[in-house]
Amino acid sequence: MGHPRSDIDVIFTAEQISDRLAALAGEISGLGLKDLAVVAVLKGSFVFAADLIRALHRVGMEPEVDFLTLSSYGKSTVSRGTVDILRDVAIDVTGRDILLVDDVLDSGRTLAYAKDLLSARGAGSIHTCVLIEKEVDRAIDIRADLTAFKCPNTFVVGYGMDMNYRFRELPFVGRVLSA
Ligand code: IMP
Ligand code: MG
Repeated sequence: MGHPRSDIDVIFTAEQISDRLAALAGEISGLGLKDLAVVAVLKGSFVFAADLIRALHRVGMEPEVDFLTLSSYGKSTVSRGTVDILRDVAIDVTGRDILLVDDVLDSGRTLAYAKDLLSARGAGSIHTCVLIEKEVDRAIDIRADLTAFKCPNTFVVGYGMDMNYRFRELPFVGRVLSA
């Protein structure tokens, strides 16, 4: 008897994700970034960022890593339309090349907010990198510089991403069929 499992449809397998991250790391290493700091937007991107920095190590990069905790959703699956800083970065981003990492690009509000924040503080350059770009009309017109996967407008979970605080532990990206 294991724990009861929810019914989840796998969208991207662990192997697909790992292959894609290796390719992304190659692209990032080609950007010629100096004194790189990876800023991961929490909580959703923590697994993606953890794997991405190790993929960056494999292509010879040595980024500093910091975290920015933002909240735009609360417990709902629909964006509230506002973004709050729950915990700020610790590093001084002035003049630094930043790789801004987030899990999902949906309405665009979170990524745009984070990018504007770091830009206003004088970051030298900001490249945005997302695990999943949803194919939807965005409330804010922003594109990610680097995208691991595109997916249709469906709520995804796993690989760090939650629905009502659940499913972050799944090693793949999936869609909840029944909870
Ligand atoms: P945006 O601000 O509407 O672009 O939403 C982006 C943020 O909402 C991401 O940082 C995610 O944390 C969260 N989010 C958006 N869509 C999903 C989803 O399908 N699953 C889990 N989190 C999501
Ligand atoms: Mg997020």
